[in-house]
Amino acid sequence: MTNHIQDTTILNNGVKMPWLGLGVFKVEEGAELVNAVRAAIVHGYRSIDTAAIYGNEQGVGEGIQAGISEAGIKREELFITSKVWNDDLGFDATIKAFETSLEKLGLNYLDLYLIHWPVEGKFKEAWRALEQLYKEGKIKAIGVSNFQIHHLEELMKDASIMPVINQVERHPRLTNKELLQYCQEKGIQLEAWSPLMQGQILDNEVLLSIAEKHNKSTAQVILRWNLQNQVVIIPKSTKEHRIIQNADLYDFELLQEEMEIIDGLNQNLRVGPDPDNFDF
Ligand SMILES: NC(=O)c1ccc[n+]([C@@H]2O[C@H](COP(=O)([O-])OP(=O)(O)OC[C@H]3O[C@@H](n4cnc5c(N)ncnc54)[C@H](OP(=O)(O)O)[C@@H]3O)[C@@H](O)[C@H]2O)c1
Repeated sequence: MTNHIQDTTILNNGVKMPWLGLGVFKVEEGAELVNAVRAAIVHGYRSIDTAAIYGNEQGVGEGIQAGISEAGIKREELFITSKVWNDDLGFDATIKAFETSLEKLGLNYLDLYLIHWPVEGKFKEAWRALEQLYKEGKIKAIGVSNFQIHHLEELMKDASIMPVINQVERHPRLTNKELLQYCQEKGIQLEAWSPLMQGQILDNEVLLSIAEKHNKSTAQVILRWNLQNQVVIIPKSTKEHRIIQNADLYDFELLQEEMEIIDGLNQNLRVGPDPDNFDF
């Protein structure tokens, strides 16, 4: 069990990934972004999750450099993730997209690179590109995002390297239990995006009562529920006090009974697109 902000899960290729990272979806280039990434690193975060489509890799890169210098750490102590967008799925296009991301971030390798969405007929070629980049040492680990079980099965038919991660929407209204169990059986680490349901479940009465018992916030309860389920989390905030709060998860433990109550909030309700029915 994780009991420190920098604790890691060991991915199926032996690479260590922090259980907690900062998400930066919808944060535009600029001082707020740079400061959020910097603050997260200074407050002990070691993982940052971005994507080409977020259009903010440059600022993330600046925040990383600022964080490294202020925290007095080395780049190797960080775990940086980006993702290839749908328009760039294809062998050559994916290699090129990767190089562009790397350049914008100002880095010479990525820790994790993901196929952002499982576009049918396209993701296998992109995966071949990821495998090559991995073999060349330009990425420490390769994975996918928004893959359902059938997408994973399809990918693994031809893959020579298994994905280490599947990053999917997961929160108390979309517990994704079947997918979680499948990934755990296959040794694919599940990672939750929109773990706080983009802020839409934080005033839920059930969560509030559990939070009150532990003298914590509902956000902390949800994040802790993920950690106790062995799920990696990347909550997004640009507010320094929330960045700190979202990492203050290690002085309490949810009871089995509380874990089940939170599971019981599931309604298979998405705040993001459905991986089986999207048109972008
Ligand atoms: N792979 C994918 O397709 C995909 C899709 C979506 C997201 N993601 C990744 O997952 C990350 C997280 O998901 P998300 O950004 O969609 O949503 P989220 O982390 O579930 O929620 C973020 C929202 O909650 C607020 N918030 C954060 N901490 C809080 C706290 N302690 N108390 C109250 N409010 C709080 C934030 O506001 P403030 O910023 O104002 O604090 C923001 O509005 C993204 O940033 C991105 O890196 C991936």
